[in-house]
Formats: sequence, C-alpha cells, structure tokens
Amino acid sequence: MAAEVLHGLSLPAKSIPPKYFYDAEGSRLFDVITKLPGYYLTRIETAILRDNRDLIAGRVGTGACLVEYGSGSSVKSRLLIEACRPAAYVPVDISRDHLEQSAQAVFDGYPELAVYPTCADYTTPFELPSPAATLPRLAFFPGSSIGNFEPAAAGAFLRGVAQVVDAGGWLVVGVDAKKDRDVLDRAYTDAAGITEQFNKNLLANINAAVGADFDLGGFRHLAVYNELAGRIEMYLVSQRDERVTVAGTEIDFAKGERLHTENSYKYAPDEFVAIAEQSGFECVDILTDELAYFMVLLLRAR
Ligand code: AVI
Repeated sequence: MAAEVLHGLSLPAKSIPPKYFYDAEGSRLFDVITKLPGYYLTRIETAILRDNRDLIAGRVGTGACLVEYGSGSSVKSRLLIEACRPAAYVPVDISRDHLEQSAQAVFDGYPELAVYPTCADYTTPFELPSPAATLPRLAFFPGSSIGNFEPAAAGAFLRGVAQVVDAGGWLVVGVDAKKDRDVLDRAYTDAAGITEQFNKNLLANINAAVGADFDLGGFRHLAVYNELAGRIEMYLVSQRDERVTVAGTEIDFAKGERLHTENSYKYAPDEFVAIAEQSGFECVDILTDELAYFMVLLLRAR
C-alpha cells in the first residue's frame, strides 16, 4: 500500500487508488452514502433486482455458487439468494471486519447456505474456496463498482470473471447509465457532507495504515462530471501550500492542487455491451428502470 500510495503521489497529477477508501470507517461511510436522497444508484439497482427476480432466477437457475465481488454489507446479494437459491455464497471483499460481520449475518439469515467469506483484493486473481469449485458459477458485481475501473481495466476484469464463472456461467453486473449532469452532481456532492467525509477518510486511512500526517482540514471535496470522458471525477483540493510526510517521504501540495481520488464511469448501454462482448461474454438481458438511470446486465460467459 505504501509503495502504491507513494507512486501515485509522485506523479505530476497526484492520485491515490480508490480501493483505499474502504477501511472500516470508509465502508461505514459508503453505506451512509447509499441511503442519501441524491445517491439514486443503490435504490434504483435494488428495485431493478427486486422487480426482475423471477426473470433472473429463470435465466441463471438454482444451486449455483454465487460469487459476489466487493460484497460490502451483502444487502443486494440477499435478493439473488432468495431468487436463485444458490448452494454456496462466496462474498469477496478487501475489508476484513466488514466482510466477517456481513458473512455472519447472511449465514444467520440462511443457515442452509454454505458461506465462504474470502478476504481479497478482487482486482487481482484469488482462489475460490475448494468446496465451491464443482458448482456452476454465478458472479455478482453490483453497485456500478465496475464504473470505478478505467474502461480497459473493466474489460480485463470482465475477462477474469469470465474465467471464474467458466463457459455457460453467469455474471449479473450493475452499471450506472449516462444522464443529466444535475442528477450526477447531486449524487456525488451532498448537502450533509457525507461524500466529503468519505473522500477525506482516504487520507485518514493512509495516515493510519502507512504512517502519514495528512491534515484532513487542509483539503476540500470536489466532484466534477467530465462529460467528454463520461465520468465523475473526484478530487481532494489542497486549501494551502502544505508539506505532508507519507511513509517517511515528504510530499508538497500547492494551494489549489488536486489530488485525484476516484473516477466513476457512466455508460450508454451499447458502450458497456461492447466491452462485455470483447471480454468473453454475451449480453442476454439489459434490465433498467423507467428513467433508464441504471442498468443491470445479465451476461453469459462464452
Ligand atoms: C462504489 N462506487 C460504485 C461508488 C461510485 O458511485 O462510484 C463510490 C462513490 N464515490 C462517491 N460516492 C460513491
């Protein structure tokens, strides 16, 4: 982590990978974000999954091994568990404490389900627990977390998932759609300042995990929609000239300098289908809401 953070801070346009948002406090703050009135993504995706549960179950069948990438609180997976009645559930998450609590809660709710929490960075290859290896696979990647990858990396990630689920296996993936700037602005800058706290918690996590002295009061949250690139860009903007020590290395920030913390890509349906098709999947269904704000795609590995 120290090496990756120092590398990002040494670039001319400073950046830190967004996966470091998700320590225990970051995961908690993200859960709060998902309930904010302007953050439509979670609400709409949940409604799409609920409204289409019979269709999804009809496609993917029962008795699979459900592998959830970035399981967080495992809230949406319950919809798939109830609809598709998998034999095993493998929640994969980088945040160990959160993973253990959520996996325990799923197990308490469905005692007949074999639950194999897997603490891993799902952007790198990880091993499926061996009892799950013989079951047909259903991967689940909700929340438009795929939007936090660069499009090329999203393709590489999907290629890895296609190998995990194997030919004929399924991926149910949530993808945020392109839409009016105003709607996107309200989703990524909230009046209660929760997204600001979430963004700045990245610095608190680095302070604690790699030994740094970021002053959280010295930075301000900024989220802008880059329409040309089709993405929300999130930054922390330095409020003054300041010097920060990170893992023993001094880093200078000029007043107004931006530290890039996240991209959140928004896709037109055909843009995302093209990436999926180039990555070993065929697109079987695109499920959406009446405003077409969000999409849940059912993809089958070729
Ligand atoms: C996790 N991910 C899909 C969120 C998003 O919308 O890109 C992270 C987030 N960043 C700011 N608010 C939420």
